[in-house]
Amino acid sequence: MTDYERQYRESRDVCGPPFPEIVAFFERYDRTRAKVLDLGCGQGRDALFVARMGHHVLGVDISKTGISQMLEQAEREDLDIRGVVADVVEYEPSEDYDVVILDRVLHMLKNDGERLAVLEKASTVTKPGGFVLVADTPKHQRLIRSFFEDRPGAWVKARDKKGYIFVQKSCGMLCVPRSSSEEESMAYDEGLAQRVREEIGELPGYVEKKMFGGIGFMLHGNMACGVIGADLIVRIGSERYETALAESHTRPFDMTGRPMRGWVVVTAEGYEADADLKGWVQRGVDYALSLPAK
Ligand SMILES: C[S@@+](CC[C@H](N)C(=O)[O-])C[C@H]1O[C@@H](n2cnc3c(N)ncnc32)[C@H](O)[C@@H]1O
Repeated sequence: MTDYERQYRESRDVCGPPFPEIVAFFERYDRTRAKVLDLGCGQGRDALFVARMGHHVLGVDISKTGISQMLEQAEREDLDIRGVVADVVEYEPSEDYDVVILDRVLHMLKNDGERLAVLEKASTVTKPGGFVLVADTPKHQRLIRSFFEDRPGAWVKARDKKGYIFVQKSCGMLCVPRSSSEEESMAYDEGLAQRVREEIGELPGYVEKKMFGGIGFMLHGNMACGVIGADLIVRIGSERYETALAESHTRPFDMTGRPMRGWVVVTAEGYEADADLKGWVQRGVDYALSLPAK
């Protein structure tokens, strides 16, 4: 087992920069001044990055050296970070958090019992609508995935790829994104919106817009898809409309009592698997890109 205490004494940058997946999550995270708990924070590579984005962070690690190096750096930069030296298996957080980070700490624990206890702790202190971000070795991925899947309805997967499982705690059918001002606040599943963003967000001409009481994803001024409540809305175009409606887990998009031809609603079972979500988003992208830019 790696002796991090010794490694941290020898070098200030043992783990390197934050993982791109963690960076991408926070760059797209729509909250300001969120409360973030970083369990097994080490020298604070994530905690420091997250605090630089204006969030409040509590880092917990068993390494005294790691915690004091993180706090020294935080003081130099005047960042809002607190640190606690503790074993994450024993540690009992006293507050709730918007985001809990478990970045390559679970594989360090003695056994699955400890890993599950820490996952339970992380999930308990996550606020409704909040996220748990786990980065760990592929060997432990199945345990982590099934921990969240065994709580049906309670968690929505925001990311599941080799080495990373990011989940959002359900807040009932509808999540209200708290970064919006009161009058702007809309109701949609932020975990689903984040998954869509990851498929479409890098494309040229990409813009997000709060609309229909949800969120719309546009390319060059044309809507490609959107999220309202827990539904994925896909702009499929007239030609493919009937075929799409004949597929499972779809229905017409009907906001006003008259279905909007060319738009379909895909319900949760239809986009749960990443490959299915990707396919639907791609259909919306294809249609939006077939239209003249606005
Ligand atoms: C691979 S490092 C990752 C550190 C940090 N999360 C990062 O990504 O830079 C694993 C960290 O887990 C900490 N750790 C291991 N077992 C722990 C435990 N039982 N309680 C708290 N921290 C622990 C180690 O001290 C080390 O800082």
